[in-house]
Amino acid sequence: VMVDKGAYRHFMAKEIAEQPEVVGHSLVRYVDMTTGRIRLPDGADFDFSTLDRLAISACGTAYYAGLVARYWFEKFARLPVDIDIASEFRYREPPLAPGSLALMISQSGETADTLATLRHCKAQGVKIGAVVNVPTSTIAREADVIFPTVAGVEVGVASTKAFTCQLAVLAALAIKAGRDRKVLSDADEQKLVAALIELPRLMSEALHLEDAIEKLAPTFAKAQDVLYLGRGTSFPIALEGALKLKEISYIHAEGYAAGELKHGPIALVDETVPVVVLAPFDPLFEKTASNMQEVAARGGRIVLITDAEGAKHAGETFATLVVPKAFAFVSPLIYAIPIQLIAYHTAVFMGTDVDQPRNLAKSVTVE
Ligand code: G6P
Repeated sequence: VMVDKGAYRHFMAKEIAEQPEVVGHSLVRYVDMTTGRIRLPDGADFDFSTLDRLAISACGTAYYAGLVARYWFEKFARLPVDIDIASEFRYREPPLAPGSLALMISQSGETADTLATLRHCKAQGVKIGAVVNVPTSTIAREADVIFPTVAGVEVGVASTKAFTCQLAVLAALAIKAGRDRKVLSDADEQKLVAALIELPRLMSEALHLEDAIEKLAPTFAKAQDVLYLGRGTSFPIALEGALKLKEISYIHAEGYAAGELKHGPIALVDETVPVVVLAPFDPLFEKTASNMQEVAARGGRIVLITDAEGAKHAGETFATLVVPKAFAFVSPLIYAIPIQLIAYHTAVFMGTDVDQPRNLAKSVTVE
């Protein structure tokens, strides 16, 4: 398939901008728009009711999508989730009971570590599911059940739209699991699905932060280290923010659970360290706000990403990026956008090869 950048300077910029649309395309495959309930695609009608455990394996950005999904499956479906990086999972020799579903997440469907884990799990007799973007890929072919994402062709080495589409599909699967396992009532399901349906609109709004983020690029570009902090489902988004920045700008960055700040990374903080804090105004906000004060007391430059209510309750920051208010459960898909834009504009400002960063490959087919 041939794709071009259109009016965009880089594929990554185009793929970031496409997210409201492709998340919408992915969701229509999983949502029955007339009933407002989840309906899995043909051939993917999996029943989660008798599962004992979900074992997720993936690499890179796809792994972070899995980390977010763990919160959703455990909360909405009371389904225990085991998750690991694919290159570790199989060598850990985790016990795989027949009641487990091994779930691979992969954009390309060709990542060697993820494929090796798939085959390892299959050899143990476990059923294999795959959230995959390329339907003709090896992982798609070898899985028992395919849960497609509809991101279209992703060219930028640093994954963006494939990630939010993976989140959208995993969110739909977690809701389906919650219904199958009788944890969610019909009304609960409809409420969660309504939040999903709002996503394309809210993600479009979040894209309006682009100009504000571009102005922050010089600040990030001169940093040696950048920290990203978040709690709950914002924690994996903090990890993804740090990964995006290091992949394309080559600036050292680390994502941390905000509560873990005091157990190590606070030692790095001084006036030269930007600290990106992801904090929707939810029940965890106050705790994250107190972590922000610890950073501010050491002169760290806080770039807070929050909603209007959070902005009101936050103390002083270097910059505050306000994203639209959303149902807490969908916030990872919205907060993903500003962290992608921070990495993108920092890299553009520094003049790196955004779409083809040094030493990295779009699809890694060696273990
Ligand atoms: C490479 C890419 C990443 C991607 C990872 C997993 O490292 O550079 O962007 O997240 O592979 O790829 P997959 O195709 O399995 O999602």
